[in-house]
Amino acid sequence: MLKITVNGDTFEAPEGKRLVLAIRDHGVHIGHRCGGFARCTTCRVEFEEGEPDTMTRAEFDRLTAKGILGQVRLSCQIACDHHMSVRPLMTLESEGWTDTGPEPEPGVTPEAKWYPKAQLFKAQV
Ligand code: FES
Repeated sequence: MLKITVNGDTFEAPEGKRLVLAIRDHGVHIGHRCGGFARCTTCRVEFEEGEPDTMTRAEFDRLTAKGILGQVRLSCQIACDHHMSVRPLMTLESEGWTDTGPEPEPGVTPEAKWYPKAQLFKAQV
């Protein structure tokens, strides 16, 4: 188990759990409108501490396409593997949705391969 902090509230989550599911299971109605496939960006979070140094290609491509690379991270593309402190930015309450989206699979989808952020950012230039 490791510690995750959401909106200043710290709780335990099993190592390897998808961050979006850890947040959701803690009772926060975070969006996952594409079901966790790095398409909708409604699972976006702002990091206060512990932002991972790696990123999936799918997350990098989506954040780049949306013009929000470097501002937010996609919690569906992150597995809990160290202490992280985040603020979810799009929730059922903030967006007025009737639901948060289809249930994400337990593992990161599409099949995840993580790259060092520095490598992805450098390749972009
Ligand atoms: S991008 Fe849709 S749930 Fe993460």
